[in-house]
Amino acid sequence: MSSYSIYVVDDEALARNGLKLALKKKNYSVQGFGTAESAIKAIDKSPPDLVLLDIGLPGMSGVEALEIIKKNHPEVIIVMITAYEDVQTVVSSMKNGAYEYVVKPVQMDALLVILRNAFETIAMRKEIQALHEKYLKENLPCFIGESNAIQDVMELVAKVAQSPDTPILILGDTGTGKELIAKAIHYKSPNFKGPMVAVNCAAMPKALIESELFGYEKGAFTGAERSGKAGLVEKAAHGTLFLDEVGDLSTEAQVKLLRFLDTGEYYRVGGTKKHAVKARIISATNRDLSALVAAGEFRNDLYHRFAVVKLEVPSLCQRRDDIIPMAKHFLVEFSQKFEKSFNSISAAAEAALKEYDWPGNVRELKNLIERGVLLSEGPQLMLEDLGLKANNGGQDNRQQGDSPHLPPVSPSGIDMSAIIAEIEKAYFDEALKLADGNESKAALLLNLTRDKFRYRRQKLDGVR
Ligand SMILES: Nc1ncnc2c1ncn2[C@@H]1O[C@H](COP(=O)(O)OP(=O)(O)OP(=O)(O)O)[C@@H](O)[C@H]1O
Ligand SMILES: [Mg+2]
Repeated sequence: MSSYSIYVVDDEALARNGLKLALKKKNYSVQGFGTAESAIKAIDKSPPDLVLLDIGLPGMSGVEALEIIKKNHPEVIIVMITAYEDVQTVVSSMKNGAYEYVVKPVQMDALLVILRNAFETIAMRKEIQALHEKYLKENLPCFIGESNAIQDVMELVAKVAQSPDTPILILGDTGTGKELIAKAIHYKSPNFKGPMVAVNCAAMPKALIESELFGYEKGAFTGAERSGKAGLVEKAAHGTLFLDEVGDLSTEAQVKLLRFLDTGEYYRVGGTKKHAVKARIISATNRDLSALVAAGEFRNDLYHRFAVVKLEVPSLCQRRDDIIPMAKHFLVEFSQKFEKSFNSISAAAEAALKEYDWPGNVRELKNLIERGVLLSEGPQLMLEDLGLKANNGGQDNRQQGDSPHLPPVSPSGIDMSAIIAEIEKAYFDEALKLADGNESKAALLLNLTRDKFRYRRQKLDGVR
């Protein structure tokens, strides 16, 4: 038995049954329908691989049915049947997505060739889709989190991802991983094959946000493209629309979004035709949205539409157990990227990483490791590579020759450590002034200066 299914839609019982019989003999699974309406119902319930669709039908015509089927089931292949070669109807059908057409009385040999080609196309599509799915699964964004706090968040992520219609609001400080969590939800959802469209609401000019989100019709405003344009909402169809920084949405944009979230329907700017889109809405902000609601700056009703499920991502200093696993993950990532040989983090560096407060959260940690890997050689990432202050006076023992510092004791036997400490302090005070009193910035500046010295010394060593 062939695995392909065909629906034959023709009001003439003789023609319909003739086709059914002939195709069944070729081992296709075939069902017949006398009207477009009954066929559409059946297609919505269980879409076949291919529809043979008569153009001249009582009630809804084949051309109208083609548009509806293609819109709701774009993957279904449609071959039009026409009583005579009405060029205009055939051309418009082909434009609307029909795969081919046959003229009545249908020549079986010609039809079988068309079907064979169509099913080859389907087989190829399925193969590409399987490869695409495999690719997506293998390239899921890597999410590191071992702390109980983040494990709880990820448990909720796994649960809510399963219902692709549920809106989710992700709250958390800057750099905590809200966008990464949104991606994780998308890729764990049944609609992961669909697109994930990210919109930064804060970066979009107020005047453009409506047309960017919902698109516009031709001539909607001065400068509008001649053909009109689809909006980001439409581009996210069957996937996820990620609205980032929703705390910065203007009042007008909030109203437009509320209507869309309530009904799933919208109008393009300058348009009168209602459009509908199915897409999961994930929103995120690092602002205190309930405080904005209380202050009257954010609509209460929209807040509740967004926050059907609310995920709160803890800041990095509230989940210190994640710091070292993340640092190690980034170490490997950047070591590979920059073709370095890093394979570990020194004890003093680990202690400083654990101790630091991470106001920029994971983003800051990632940037720090990236910088350390880029500017040093490895194989161990040392405290001095990070630009963080030592924890409990901890120090690393870098191998002789690797150290950018002077040895603490001079060959003459004079203890240099007090002098060095003084010099270091003078440098740090200078750096602190330049960094407007920000200690971690000052430490970074100091490290950059050290890197410059190290580079110069290496050059001098080469010359000597
Ligand atoms: N758990 C994690 N595992 C691995 N990488 C992470 C994790 N969390 C965040 N990151 C990385 O940290 C960086 C910042 O994350 P992200 O952009 O998702 O933060 P955000 O909360 O959206 O920040 P903002 O509020 O500033 O937009 C990204 O490069 C992301 O890949
Ligand atoms: Mg973000």
